Amino acid sequence: MTPYINPNFELISFSSDVELANAAGREWLDEIENANRGALPHHVALSGGRIARRFFQAATELAKARSTNLGSVQFFWGDERCVPPTDADSNFAAARELLLESLSIPEAQIHRVRGEAPPQLAAAAAEAEICRLVPLNGDGQPILDLIFLGLGEEGHVASLFPGESEAEILSKPVYRPVIATKPPPHRITLGYWAIVAARQVWVLASGPGKENALRESLTSTGQTPLARVLKLRSHTRIFSDNHVE
Ligand code: 6PG
Repeated sequence: MTPYINPNFELISFSSDVELANAAGREWLDEIENANRGALPHHVALSGGRIARRFFQAATELAKARSTNLGSVQFFWGDERCVPPTDADSNFAAARELLLESLSIPEAQIHRVRGEAPPQLAAAAAEAEICRLVPLNGDGQPILDLIFLGLGEEGHVASLFPGESEAEILSKPVYRPVIATKPPPHRITLGYWAIVAARQVWVLASGPGKENALRESLTSTGQTPLARVLKLRSHTRIFSDNHVE
């Protein structure tokens, strides 16, 4: 795990998705235990996708082994598909199956995006809930303690995909409905400004076909959604099992 540190990001490379998921799990639990020592809440936004599933499995096993107290953790989502919470495509469903149920997280700590509702209503309700529970910055964006992001083959993060207009990119809504190029198309995502506002953002960049998107995102001229996040934030951590240096 040789970190490559640039002013805007830290790239930590791993030899496999399992090694990456275990390391991210260990470090996430460290963050939660630090919050516990300070009697502070831990507001986290989860992502979806394949590496997220491996990460949930690793975090669950480690939390049980370490007997980590998760009572301070409030769970939100970086994005959600516009499907019911029981649908196989639901990011909430994956987290519930592999993390939340396994760790007996109470409903009161779970703040899912209601993918079953009309997208505009679901986005507005999710925004109202996160802004009620999480401290806001001067722009009205929630200051989450940690946002997990996956990386798509074309450089998307959460459900922020290439090809959006500047107006969409710069729009202020905390959550907004989008039409994605990765199925399922109808999704709700945190906007860029909510991602920028977070104390920490950890990108779990894993799987075949991500090398080019990651490599471009790390350049000063990168045009991917991840590149935009890296430029807008002062620091972002990238856990990668792709071999880009
Ligand atoms: C989603 C995710 C999305 C995902 C990436 C990586 O809802 O689809 O939030 O951003 O994290 O597409 O997914 P994989 O890990 O499956 O490649």
